[in-house]
Amino acid sequence: MGVAKKYAVISTKGGVGKTTLAANLGGILVDLGQRVLLVDTDHQQSLSTYYPLARPAPHGLRRMVMTADPTGCISQTAIPNLDLIVSDDPDKSLNNWIRQSSSHFQYLHAAMLAIDEAYDYIIIDTKGSDGTGELQELAIRASDILLSPIAPEWVAAKEFVRNTVAMLKRLEPPPGIQAGLPTVPPMLGLIYGLDRSTDTQVAAQQLRKTFYDESRGRVSILDTVVPSMAAYNQAAGRQMPVHRYETKRYNSPTPSAHDTMLQLVHELLPHLADIVPQWSTDGQNPVTRKEEESHGQKTTL
Ligand SMILES: Nc1ncnc2c1ncn2[C@@H]1O[C@H](COP(=O)(O)OP(=O)(O)OP(=O)(O)O)[C@@H](O)[C@H]1O
Ligand SMILES: [Mg+2]
Repeated sequence: MGVAKKYAVISTKGGVGKTTLAANLGGILVDLGQRVLLVDTDHQQSLSTYYPLARPAPHGLRRMVMTADPTGCISQTAIPNLDLIVSDDPDKSLNNWIRQSSSHFQYLHAAMLAIDEAYDYIIIDTKGSDGTGELQELAIRASDILLSPIAPEWVAAKEFVRNTVAMLKRLEPPPGIQAGLPTVPPMLGLIYGLDRSTDTQVAAQQLRKTFYDESRGRVSILDTVVPSMAAYNQAAGRQMPVHRYETKRYNSPTPSAHDTMLQLVHELLPHLADIVPQWSTDGQNPVTRKEEESHGQKTTL
């Protein structure tokens, strides 16, 4: 078994905040002293261009998937300890290659086993799809946990629950022959932009129950809610993690992006609750620097 915990950010729809979530989760985890690899499987390359690169690699996702070998495919972002596999498949030919054999769906998983110990977390961004696009399935097969942003207008939408549960069921092995076949990882839903009115809170509770019942416990909804705020878009424009961009909000009942991202990390990873995010503006991560000085090598916190 590998060391890195692997998240795939997926959704049955596009434009719901997947890339923003993948980039910012990676961004705050490195400021908590973790080593993170971001993987972009979307040919639109939004995650590939989210942060500036300090050392671009000669190759990216195509080579890594087709050879099941990450050598020469890992770029370094300008944020220390945050690496990236760029998407380099603009004509989507990787999808055809994956479709050629059912074993190809395991190649990303295999490639990541080779680098598993170099990272604490691997976060895979995907393209929104209500079918099982080949790359989306590849990402699901390579991950331990699925994270799915849920747009506020879906909170009361039974159809959304049905589509999501149906998508997961399509990937499950048939009943009776499950032994030995990979199963679909559990999914955590993250609600975006819900306001504080009683109606929407009641709808969120209903969503929790419906998802739990229909998915037989495989999908649960996180308590953390990500408010809809301009800071997310503005931070992306400045190519920086949102928790660094908006540390505080004054005279507002809405938590800052910093506090929201930290709450999310604490809910996902309670063992990181005692660490305070740290960063410096010179591009060096203070947590990392301190560890390098005292131990000569990095340790997992
Ligand atoms: N919490 C938020 N509040 C306000 N705007 C947000 C928030 N999160 C993301 N956005 C904005 O919403 C837009 C879509 O986000 P993003 O690109 O992350 O979605 P996506 O699911 O990755 O889309 P696609 O399916 O095209 O890959 C972006 O302009 C982003 O800046
Ligand atoms: Mg995206």
